[in-house]
Amino acid sequence: MSVKKIAILFSGEGTNLENLIKKLHNRVFDSFKVEVALSLTNNPNANGIKRALKYGIETVIVDHRDFEDRESFDERVVKEIRDRGCDLAVLAGFMRILTPIFTENIKALNIHPSLLPLFKGANALERSFKSDMKVGGVSVHKVTSELDGGEILSQECFNKEGMSFEEFENKIHQIEHRIYPKTVIKVLKSL
Ligand code: GRF
Repeated sequence: MSVKKIAILFSGEGTNLENLIKKLHNRVFDSFKVEVALSLTNNPNANGIKRALKYGIETVIVDHRDFEDRESFDERVVKEIRDRGCDLAVLAGFMRILTPIFTENIKALNIHPSLLPLFKGANALERSFKSDMKVGGVSVHKVTSELDGGEILSQECFNKEGMSFEEFENKIHQIEHRIYPKTVIKVLKSL
């Protein structure tokens, strides 16, 4: 049976990281097995490091503050992904703007807590909540050099009228945890 390897990149809490590990790592889908071959963060204090360890996965820390510029940071991240032979990188709350060094060399997906193309960039969850739109949503898209601008692969929205911020945030995470693993598998099947 073939093995398809993924790298998961994150910066913070890591609920998506944990959910992806739980639902995909060492699991078989049709003709292949998925392996989380790399867990990587730019933040030495990211809570996700502990979450990955619960599944026996050590996280590689590449602290962006140790690099002179975005390009040299990206070169190192690309190397870590390539060294492990990953087929796909999965960004799960990875709070770094990526240069073409990354985007032109690595096939990657990202999850964004809004109905793209609306609310691209930072604080999307807060901005989407505060807007007068009646719906909020989640999008999974391909990573390109345009921030949050690559092809949308899956998307789901919900009515947010009357929701508190906490309810809104929970709903976003619930959708993220359901659609991200499914989309990763769909993409891996197509590779
Ligand atoms: C998620 O809301 C995701 O959409 C955004 O960053 C957040 C990461 O959350 N890109 P977590 O660290 O996975 O809990």
